[in-house]
Amino acid sequence: MIFEVVTSIAVAGLAGYSFLKTKGTGTSDADKIQTIFTNADLSIRKGGKTETIRLQRKRKFEGGTEYIYQLPLGLSSKEVIEKKHVLEDGLNVRSNVFEFRFSDLKSLKFDKSIVRQIRGLLKSKRKKKEIDIEFDGMLRIKIYNESMPNLVEWNESLLKPGTWSIPIGYTRNGEIINHDFDKSKHLIVAGATGYGKSVILKLIVTSLICQQPENVELSLIDLKGGSAFHRFKDCMQTKYYSRDPKTAEKVLIEIQKDMNNSFLGVVDNGFEDVKEAGIKKRHFIIIDESADLSDYKNAMDIVTDIARRGRSAGYYLIFCTQYPTAEVIPSQTKRNVIARLCYVVDTDTASRVVLDEGGAEQLPDIPGRGIYKNGPR
Ligand SMILES: Nc1ncnc2c1ncn2[C@@H]1O[C@H](COP(=O)(O)OP(=O)(O)O)[C@@H](O)[C@H]1O
Ligand SMILES: [Mg+2]
Repeated sequence: MIFEVVTSIAVAGLAGYSFLKTKGTGTSDADKIQTIFTNADLSIRKGGKTETIRLQRKRKFEGGTEYIYQLPLGLSSKEVIEKKHVLEDGLNVRSNVFEFRFSDLKSLKFDKSIVRQIRGLLKSKRKKKEIDIEFDGMLRIKIYNESMPNLVEWNESLLKPGTWSIPIGYTRNGEIINHDFDKSKHLIVAGATGYGKSVILKLIVTSLICQQPENVELSLIDLKGGSAFHRFKDCMQTKYYSRDPKTAEKVLIEIQKDMNNSFLGVVDNGFEDVKEAGIKKRHFIIIDESADLSDYKNAMDIVTDIARRGRSAGYYLIFCTQYPTAEVIPSQTKRNVIARLCYVVDTDTASRVVLDEGGAEQLPDIPGRGIYKNGPR
């Protein structure tokens, strides 16, 4: 019986394929890209003629195909990159490529709802093509065969005991990206509400406690009413905890005093930072919803001071906000915090505030999917 179902799905797949062939929508991705560029006005007009991109070559890489184009003079790569979503949508129009596992088919019940079940399965297994666009003199459009997974499980093997290096996520190739706080001392985390900021903060706190139980000290400032950090407030590593801006301001004043002592201890002894001075302790100031502090000037000034001088003193800042605007992330803080982690945001402007470039507004609607940037490209 299961075999019969496999057969019917294979037939459905074949029927879809021949339908595509006869209807002519099975054109290659290169043809589609060319059409999308013309239709989306990604071209320039010169002497009554329209010029658009020209395919120079294509190459396969593990997991996809890269198309390399020359841009016509006068068309900027920025204009193209800003229309990434148009390209992605165009490439996915009537995408009839499906991905099945044998276990998917085994889950089918062979009763009168079988047609509905198969339809549901086809829908859920429709593959969405994802793309990346880069410009390095040539325009490079990468089309990936597989979407990134929506969910990856955490496990203890990701921990690196004794280090300050924390797993932030997986890349498309399955490579783990770590943020090493002893190399990049601070971190800005931003993104619209509901896309994973508190989750990553909790992951960072948990990893720090597990990896450095004796050496980590935490100041947890949770201005969303305590929903993210309440569970850590009684941990022996938590030195300060606050969940309203007024207390946060008081806490920040204390932290600044501690930081000054540590700073003088390091710098006056001729060292550049705590690492060079052989000091094992690190103090993390983690602020969930920094926007709620922006009316508290004194508090914000201290945050800026931590971003500026904390790196030597071993006082590391994790600055998190759902409202990435120039007022919420002061320019001096931004200048001193090189590493950024950005989940989906509403606008290109918001993406630029966080990452200094667009892109986070085009992330798919998947919690946990983000862009991590550490240093210039
Ligand atoms: N990395 C992730 N992987 C899977 N699901 C996630 C991830 N991050 C967030 N989510 C889901 O999204 C929900 C909201 O995430 P949260 O971190 O609370 O958002 P916010 O950005 O508003 O703080 C979580 O409860 C969880 O269900
Ligand atoms: Mg949150």
